[in-house]
Amino acid sequence: MKIAMVYTSVTGNTEALMRMIEQAFQTQGLPVDIYPIHAFDLEKLQQWDAIIVGTYSWGNGHIPREMRALFAAFEQQETRAVVTAVFGTGDSFYPHFCGAVDQFRDMLYVHTDLAVTLKVELLPQEQDVQRCQAFVERLMTRLNQHLEQKSIFN
Ligand SMILES: Cc1cc2nc3c(=O)[nH]c(=O)nc-3n(C[C@H](O)[C@H](O)[C@H](O)COP(=O)(O)O)c2cc1C
Repeated sequence: MKIAMVYTSVTGNTEALMRMIEQAFQTQGLPVDIYPIHAFDLEKLQQWDAIIVGTYSWGNGHIPREMRALFAAFEQQETRAVVTAVFGTGDSFYPHFCGAVDQFRDMLYVHTDLAVTLKVELLPQEQDVQRCQAFVERLMTRLNQHLEQKSIFN
């Protein structure tokens, strides 16, 4: 099972959330490969069973510049069979809270098999540990359904 978690973070909030999600994978004994966006190969997204996207939001709920190529890669490649999830941190002071998560969610819903999303206010807190566990459980339920279907049809 190949699962990638691709993220961006400037001031560390989204990275802290990514670590919490990584911990939830580890608790369940599941492997996940982690990539800061600049280290992720955008060429063959369909080589992954699941891709988890982590992003902060910028401007008026915009996707950060460094995440735009990943966004376009999902739109351009055949990724309907890839299970996805998106998480992010934002600041509810801004009118469009976690707008980049919403934009990824809408696109991933169309181009992939989107399983779950998660938004957190700034730096994740103790109560977010449980939300991260639920996030991983939802993703894994969808992924297991997917892998079962694959084995029936292959
Ligand atoms: C100039 C600027 C614009 C921002 N715009 C938004 C926004 O539109 N929506 C939102 O939810 N958060 C917005 N934020 C807040 C960041 O997304 C938030 O601080 C986030 O946790 C930063 O993530 P990072 O620590 O991983 O870099 C903005 C922050 C800055 C500095």
